Amino acid sequence: MYVIIFEKGDFMSKIILTGDRPTGKMHLGHYVGSFKNRVRLQNSGEFDEVYLMIADSQALTDNFDNPKKVRDNVLEVILFYLACGIDPNKTNIFIQSQVPALAELTFYYMNLVTVSRLYRNPTVKQEIKLRGYDESIPSGFLNYPVSQAADITAFKATTVPVGEDQLPMIEQTREIVNSFNRIYGETLVSPKELLPENKLAKRLPGIDGKSKMSKSLGNCIYLDDSDEIINKKVMSMYTDPNHIKVTDPGSVEGNVVFTYLDVFCEDGDFVNYLPDYKNLDELKEHYKRGGLGDMVIKRFLAKILCDEIRPIREKYLEYKNNLDYVFDVLKVGTENANKKANITLNEVRSHMGIDYFDNENFIKEMKEKFSNN
Ligand code: TRP
Repeated sequence: MYVIIFEKGDFMSKIILTGDRPTGKMHLGHYVGSFKNRVRLQNSGEFDEVYLMIADSQALTDNFDNPKKVRDNVLEVILFYLACGIDPNKTNIFIQSQVPALAELTFYYMNLVTVSRLYRNPTVKQEIKLRGYDESIPSGFLNYPVSQAADITAFKATTVPVGEDQLPMIEQTREIVNSFNRIYGETLVSPKELLPENKLAKRLPGIDGKSKMSKSLGNCIYLDDSDEIINKKVMSMYTDPNHIKVTDPGSVEGNVVFTYLDVFCEDGDFVNYLPDYKNLDELKEHYKRGGLGDMVIKRFLAKILCDEIRPIREKYLEYKNNLDYVFDVLKVGTENANKKANITLNEVRSHMGIDYFDNENFIKEMKEKFSNN
């Protein structure tokens, strides 16, 4: 009988890699859509290694003319990671540009992808339109899905927690993995996406209720907003335009205040702040019947959001005053990331036969070849 023992670190490992472009402050949409989930995954004990990447190189593909914006936001991003509960003892936080293996892998993977396939990537297509690139699209931008495949495969990630808009990138990564393994032999690991479970959290609308929360639309609640600003933003929220008098029946569908309550409110909040109701269903019923004013529901939501954001803001400010520590976290995380990515890069080089100085057979082979001729 044979017993096969798999060591930690080989292909049985469960490994997470995910990341964010450092292009702005973090908001409530990031928190419910991904940060909360990442903290849960990090603490689940289900994963052998967890990597969280600040994707500055990718951010430069459409911000190359404004590197200061990208550089300054690297620290913003890690401050919010730490404030939200990412634990550097469990998660390696690192900076993409400081892991050179990623650029080299990208270069080899580019051979495996056609230009027309890149143009067909739905997310890239949409972004090209949005940025008005037309024919003048920088090749670096068109290629960023290939570099994202390098990010994922360098760490042999099995699981990539992302939002729906990133699915085309994971799909392209799997195609690259398949091509690479077919041509050069089994080397790379094929990743699976992990989408957020909570449907509402996937696409938290902005305070205008029109679209997803996004910095460029100016409809965000930021994770370091003060209680005062949170109150102001909630008071300006879009509700039901036909709910004019308090006695009018109101609609909860498409009413941002209720959308947010669906995501954030727990029964305990009623005990603390609105004891006339037992739960959200009761509150909704009253609103639909008429006789419940917008101010009541807005004040209630504001209190809940202030409670949610306060601890994050406080930790954010704490870490902001302790940048030496934050820099150390980044340095150690990046060191670990380099170790891991270099192992993969060496395997890639060896399977491609470009490991000249590490391959004793190569010199022997060449000597034989040239002596025979
Ligand atoms: N494209 C991702 C975003 O815009 C960031 C990212 C870069 C990423 N490399 C990645 C996400 C690898 C997951 C895996 O948010």
